[in-house]
Amino acid sequence: MKSIKELLNDKRQGAAWAPADVERFVRGVVHGEVSAAQAGAFLMAACIHDLTDAETAALTTAMARSGGHLERGSGGRPAVDKHSTGGVGDKVSLLLAPLAAACGLAVPMISGRGLGHTGGTVDKLESIRGFRMDLPLTELAQLLHADGMFMAAQSPDLAPADRILYALRDVTGTVENVGLITASILSKKFAEGLDGLVMDIKVGSGAFMKDSAQAERLATSIKRTCDAAGLPCTIVCTRMDRPLGAAVGNWVEVVEAEVALQDPSYAHPDLHLVTSTLVEEMLLLGGICATEDEAADRVHQAWSSQAAWKIFHRMIERQGGSWSDSIAHYAATPQAVVEATGSGVIAAIDPMAVAQAVLQAGGGRRVETDRIDPVAGVVFQVDVGDEVTRGQPLATVHAEQASVLPDLAAGIQAAVHIATAPAEQEPSVILDVWR
Ligand code: URA
Repeated sequence: MKSIKELLNDKRQGAAWAPADVERFVRGVVHGEVSAAQAGAFLMAACIHDLTDAETAALTTAMARSGGHLERGSGGRPAVDKHSTGGVGDKVSLLLAPLAAACGLAVPMISGRGLGHTGGTVDKLESIRGFRMDLPLTELAQLLHADGMFMAAQSPDLAPADRILYALRDVTGTVENVGLITASILSKKFAEGLDGLVMDIKVGSGAFMKDSAQAERLATSIKRTCDAAGLPCTIVCTRMDRPLGAAVGNWVEVVEAEVALQDPSYAHPDLHLVTSTLVEEMLLLGGICATEDEAADRVHQAWSSQAAWKIFHRMIERQGGSWSDSIAHYAATPQAVVEATGSGVIAAIDPMAVAQAVLQAGGGRRVETDRIDPVAGVVFQVDVGDEVTRGQPLATVHAEQASVLPDLAAGIQAAVHIATAPAEQEPSVILDVWR
């Protein structure tokens, strides 16, 4: 058997590792037999030479098995989850999990914190006073059985190899590699004991995948890795060239999701379409519905009857949160109005500029130890294509400290591009569906 040093020597020269070697390496990373320097060398070589499909599959499976997992079989419901590659204003999970549970699926949703410029579901939900995301696997399994869903953060014993390798990728400049991203995302999903997975791959200036070629590479890698593991997977590519919905921030996004769940006619059209498309695909994957029309009817029913809204509130209660305390707590936080600097048509709202402005105001982390301001954020009152006149309110900005509002407002003002020509017809927010 080759030593880790010999294996690394092979990898430096572009050789592929056998699945058993990948597994031994991952075990060594978790048990301290592979040093951080050796793991870093592997990651860099993986970026330079790329992993083969077989290596990516072996790495994913080994990382998924590196800790605890949820048992398959959730009270007779098919377990189907959704994962997004991350966008600006992407609060879809908050609506989707209760909707899918209301339609008869089990949704064991383990989410991440904000990554780079994108917000994380964990940070959003933690803005609800008292809400607990750090529940042990045994308690999560009980919630799934009783209510058909939970929303939690990655516990220390779920795919620990991913946590170790992700931290090393972060400091060795090896985050952006399709094989490593695939293994990182899917290892956590494989450990959820799923019967199906829907991936939302975001494409555009506000996403990690800037164009359709990059998105296609990631989609292919994810699909092949799921196929190799026997996990049915549907990929939906969605546009991320403007914020999704009206709000960007943590608490403001939770409020937008709650209001939209209460009455679908309040949901921003893009948020409505992305959410319902993803839930419909989950229902088809889980075998709850046989046709797209049946799935669309089922989602409409769960949404308009407020069944999903009730599940959302039950989840908050079961996980220790208080909606009324949160509303009362945030009611008096400082806010300011952002006005249009000229007249014309809104040609674009730059998602990166919005994300950076919210991040600078405290709505995200620049380093892991940063404390997040749960209210820092923006709520737009206008959309791309709307006509505006100089001085008209474009948005409201919010923060715990009034002193950050002028910079936040200026950042939002700069992100909104007003043109004199009429806006062009835009393509749908849903770019592609791969079943
Ligand atoms: N999300 C993850 O969990 N891991 C990555 O590598 C990228 C996005």
